[in-house]
Amino acid sequence: MNMDYQARILLVEDDASQASLLTLELRRRGLEVLALRSGEEAIKVLDDQAFDLVITDLKLGGVDGLRVLQAAKKAQPDLEVLLITGHGSVDSAVAAMKAGAFDYLTKPVEPEELGIVLAKAMERRRLLGEVQRLREEVKGKYSFEGIVYASPSMRKVLDLVQKVAATEATVLIQGESGTGKELIARAIHEKGSRRTGAFVAINCGALPEGLLESELFGHVKGSFTGADRNKRGLFEEANGGTLFLDEISETTPSLQVKLLRALQESEIRRVGDNHPIKVSGRLVVATNKDLGKLVAQDKFREDLFYRLKVFPIQIPPLRERPEDILPLAEHFLRKARKKIGGKADRFAPEAAQALRSYSWPGNVRELEHAIERVLIMSSASAVRLSDLPPEMQQSSGPGVSKAAAFSANLEEIEKRHILEVYRSCGGNVAETAKQLGIGRNTLWRKLKAFGLGAQ
Ligand SMILES: Nc1ncnc2c1ncn2[C@@H]1O[C@H](COP(=O)(O)OP(=O)(O)OP(=O)(O)O)[C@@H](O)[C@H]1O
Ligand SMILES: [Mg+2]
Repeated sequence: MNMDYQARILLVEDDASQASLLTLELRRRGLEVLALRSGEEAIKVLDDQAFDLVITDLKLGGVDGLRVLQAAKKAQPDLEVLLITGHGSVDSAVAAMKAGAFDYLTKPVEPEELGIVLAKAMERRRLLGEVQRLREEVKGKYSFEGIVYASPSMRKVLDLVQKVAATEATVLIQGESGTGKELIARAIHEKGSRRTGAFVAINCGALPEGLLESELFGHVKGSFTGADRNKRGLFEEANGGTLFLDEISETTPSLQVKLLRALQESEIRRVGDNHPIKVSGRLVVATNKDLGKLVAQDKFREDLFYRLKVFPIQIPPLRERPEDILPLAEHFLRKARKKIGGKADRFAPEAAQALRSYSWPGNVRELEHAIERVLIMSSASAVRLSDLPPEMQQSSGPGVSKAAAFSANLEEIEKRHILEVYRSCGGNVAETAKQLGIGRNTLWRKLKAFGLGAQ
C-alpha cells in the first residue's frame, strides 16, 4: 500500500481473536492501531483523539457499529469509517453505507481485500486533505504554525518570518500590545534550524534591573546576598535555541550596554565573574513602543537599537487588517468551545459585521477574550449581535447609518458571490468573469481588493 504518512487507525472489535488478527494485519502494513473492545470505549476515545480511519464491527455487545460511525462523523466529519459485517448481513451493510460508511468488509476478512479497501480509504483521505488545502489557499487563508490570518499584510509578515527563520539574524518585532508578537517570535523559532533547542522567553519589564541581569547572564555563588550557588543565565539556557526578550524598551541604560556587548561578542559574563562564556542562541526581541522614537528621545541606546534592528518585523494592528477579524473570531470560537463547551459554532451576520467594524484597541488578545465571554453569554447556535459586549454592538448599530450598514452588507454579499464563483471555476479568471458577466479587468480589480489574484 502506498502511503505518504503513518496513519492511525481505531479498530473496534469485540471478538478477541478477530481483533488480534486484524491488528496484526494492520500493523504489518505499518499502520498504528488502537484496538478497543466496545463501542462505548470507542465513542469516548473519538471525543479527544484524532484518527485517520475507523474500522468497526457492526455488531458489538452494547453500542453497535452504526453508533460508533455516527460518533466518528460527529467528532471528525471527514473521518472515514469501514464496517465489518457478519456473513450474510447484507441488509445492515446497506444501511451502514447509507449512514455514511466508506465501505464494508464481510467476515472472515481477507487480507487482500482489506489491503484494497485501506488503500482506497487512505487515497480518499489524502485527496480530501489536498482539496482542503487548495480551498484554503484560494481563500488566501491558511494556518501557519497556529497563526490565523487572511490579510495581505499578515501574509507579508509571515513571508518575513519564513525568510529570517532560515538565518541566524537578530530579529526586532514591533507591534501594539496583543498583536501576536510572542506568537511570531515562536514561529521564527519553530521554523528555523534552532527549533531543536529551547525557546526561552523573558519579559524585561517584569523584573527590577539587578534581578533581570542575573536572570539573563546568570551569577556565581556569593556575588550578592542570596546568591548561594552558581546559576546559569537565560543566555546560556538558550544556547542552540532562541532567546526572546519581550518589552526590550523597559531595560535600563546599563543593562542595554551589557546586552550590546553580549551581541557584539557572542559571549557573556555571569554576575560576579570575569570569565567569559560563549553563547550561541538566536536573539528575538519585541516591543510595543516605537524604539526609533525612544532613541530620538535618548531613552534607548542608539548603538543597541541598530544592532537589534538588523531584521525588523512590524505587526500591523488588527484594525488595519480587518480581513483577519472573522477568521480569527471563528478560530477562537472553535478553541473556546473545545475548552469550555457552549452551543454557538458560528456568528450571525449582524454579529459578524459588528466584530468587523469594531476598532480592537487590544488587538488579537482582546478579540480572543471577547469571544470566550461571548460564547458563555450566547444560548443559540449562532452568536447574535445582542450577545456581544455593548461597545461592539454600537460599532455596527446606531453609530453607523442604516444606509452605510446596508451598503457594507451588499459588499459582503457581492464579495462572497464572486469568491464562490471564482472557487468553482478553480481560480480561472477568464472563466469566472464570463460566468459573472463582468469584464476581466473589473474582476481583477475586485479580486485584488479582496487580497486575491494579481498581487
Ligand atoms: N494571527 C493569530 N492567530 C492566532 N492567534 C493569535 C494571532 N495573533 C495573536 N494571537 C493570539 O493572541 C494572543 C496575544 O498574542 P501575543 O501574546 O503573541 O501578543 P503580544 O503582541 O506578545 O502581546 P503583548 O504586547 O501584550 O505582550 C495570544 O493568545 C496569541 O496566541
Ligand atoms: Mg507578548
